[in-house]
Amino acid sequence: MDRLEYNVMVLEHFKNPRNAGTLENADAIGQVGNPVCGDMMEISINVKDDRIEDIRFRTFGCASAIATTSMLTEVVKGMKLEEAEKVTWDHAMKSLGGLPKIKIHCSLLAVDGLKAALYHYYKKVGVDR
Ligand code: FES
Repeated sequence: MDRLEYNVMVLEHFKNPRNAGTLENADAIGQVGNPVCGDMMEISINVKDDRIEDIRFRTFGCASAIATTSMLTEVVKGMKLEEAEKVTWDHAMKSLGGLPKIKIHCSLLAVDGLKAALYHYYKKVGVDR
């Protein structure tokens, strides 16, 4: 079996994930599944002044999903909601220096989880997006 070639940054985020866990009293929680592999992602956010004040994630997913979501939470923490909405899986993956080709779909799980959390937040506060 071939070994996957993960770069140093991916391995570092996998071994020491940032913002792991769940926010107590989260303003919104997004939960999604990856149709490719069946893995799951949950992202909770707190929002203040239209910015992501705090963010946590839990996943039943692979090393790539953990590393990408860890990086994504760092990228969007403090970001305005409308900017966070525009962050793509490509951006998240490139922020990590890339993923092995067969693991690219894992970065979708991170971004979809964030989008789900934002959707639930907008729904809760009555904003039509
Ligand atoms: Fe499922 Fe990576 S294999 S998220």
